[in-house]
Amino acid sequence: MTRTGNRAPAVAVRGVGKRYSGVSVLRDVDLDIAPGEVHSLVGENGAGKSTLLKILGGAIRADTGSLHFDGAPVSVGNPRDAIAHGVSLISQEGALVPVLSVLENVFLARWANRLGFRQARADRRRFDELIEFTGFDVDPRERVDRLPIGTQQQVEILRSLGRGARVLALDEPTAVLAEHEKANLLELIRRLSANGTTVILVSHFLDEVLGVADRVTVLRDGSLVLSDDVANHTPGSLVRHMVGREVDMLYPEPAPVPPDAPVRLSASGLRRGLVHDVDLTVRAGEILGIAGLVGSGRTETLRLLFGADKAVDGVIEVDGTTITSMSPRRSMSAGVALVPESRKEQGLVMARSVQDNVALASLGERRRGPFVHRAAERTAVDNVSRAVDIRVARKDAPVETLSGGNQQKALFAKWLLRSPRVLLIDEPTRGVDVAAKAQIHHLITGLAAEGMAVICVSSEIEELLGLSHRVLVLRHGRAVGDFPRGTPREVVIAAAFGDEGEIT
Ligand SMILES: Nc1ncnc2c1ncn2[C@@H]1O[C@H](COP(=O)(O)OP(=O)(O)OP(=O)(O)O)[C@@H](O)[C@H]1O
Ligand SMILES: [Mg+2]
Repeated sequence: MTRTGNRAPAVAVRGVGKRYSGVSVLRDVDLDIAPGEVHSLVGENGAGKSTLLKILGGAIRADTGSLHFDGAPVSVGNPRDAIAHGVSLISQEGALVPVLSVLENVFLARWANRLGFRQARADRRRFDELIEFTGFDVDPRERVDRLPIGTQQQVEILRSLGRGARVLALDEPTAVLAEHEKANLLELIRRLSANGTTVILVSHFLDEVLGVADRVTVLRDGSLVLSDDVANHTPGSLVRHMVGREVDMLYPEPAPVPPDAPVRLSASGLRRGLVHDVDLTVRAGEILGIAGLVGSGRTETLRLLFGADKAVDGVIEVDGTTITSMSPRRSMSAGVALVPESRKEQGLVMARSVQDNVALASLGERRRGPFVHRAAERTAVDNVSRAVDIRVARKDAPVETLSGGNQQKALFAKWLLRSPRVLLIDEPTRGVDVAAKAQIHHLITGLAAEGMAVICVSSEIEELLGLSHRVLVLRHGRAVGDFPRGTPREVVIAAAFGDEGEIT
């Protein structure tokens, strides 16, 4: 604990409120965060966590209330103001300049002012210090758009620290990280806090919150319902405050796959890029999990199965029919759907409504003649949106105004509407709150029980083990293990790591 009774809070929020087109998304929030504290912010999707962080980081302005940093009232109208006060926000969306190098991004503000050889050398030295402190492994010359998302986030953290941030606000930083990267980040957060940096952490992983934070605040429907020491809480008590009721967070037991269930999809000798010779089979009613480290070929394998990328070698069969030269069009007409990893780049049209997005994927089927059956379409979209519990104030609101978790649910709904026979899902619950997550798990298990074949990729080993009948482990693009339900977590992790060293 780093709370010091008589020092002014590093951050104090007083009576903060925010509305969007008449809808209140934050109401009269009062919050104190002590210097050097790790303060976690939790709540359901759409509760207002990101909105509060954006207000602190100057990305948006509150309609009412005031902010105080280190005891002094401040006016934060834009990110520059916040940074000048030592407050740095690392948002869910990311904020790097894609075409610039890591080093340029880290020292962007300064380079804009004075460019020069000596400055560049000083920056390089400072960069090396930051790398030493954080333990990150990032090449300063690499262009940031070539980096995996986890590394891009490290660049943002380096940039914040380079600016001497005293308050670091992180919006779901671990959602995009693999298990060992998560552990490293949490360790860094502890170290920053020990050095006096205040850390505000938004996360849907309650174990993580309870493990790293000193205090926790719960938002529900835009109101603060609790601000307390984490020592007084368990995941269950936090969920009760978040949702206002008990939630069963246990994984549903999947229905057994009948021994004579037909093979829905099989692949053999699948190869392209880093994917080597992958064989897999999934039967009707079966949920196959795919585990592996970042770079093990999980996403690539799904993309090959769907035909989003063309395999250079290998055979894919759907319902016993070999599909030569798999393409998204062919796989869709064979009843295969892929829910991709990135909702922004591959999944959703951000400027269009949920209705449009969800309907988009199945428009072709429903279109009879030149007219789309609007009413039928709306009913179908309503049903599937309810099934995944999309919470949106107005149906015609563009997807970009939805909270992160609700965007994820919209992406899922879009593909469910096609009622696929084989569902390929990449990170089904990334950014989804615990209650909605349990709901999605029940939904997937239910679909499988009705005969859908499911292949699911996730960075969360718990999710894979909880959800799947079998877990296939990939390492360096090769299948290195196929484990039945009930296999201990450590065994799966060990297979994913191989002999590459430490397991965290
Ligand atoms: N630009 C905007 N226009 C309209 N509504 C918005 C806008 N930005 C956010 N909202 C709404 O404000 C509410 C709170 O959103 P916010 O992003 O703060 O939720 P969150 O707690 O971060 O959720 P998640 O866990 O899903 O990230 C949501 O209902 C969202 O749809
Ligand atoms: Mg959010």
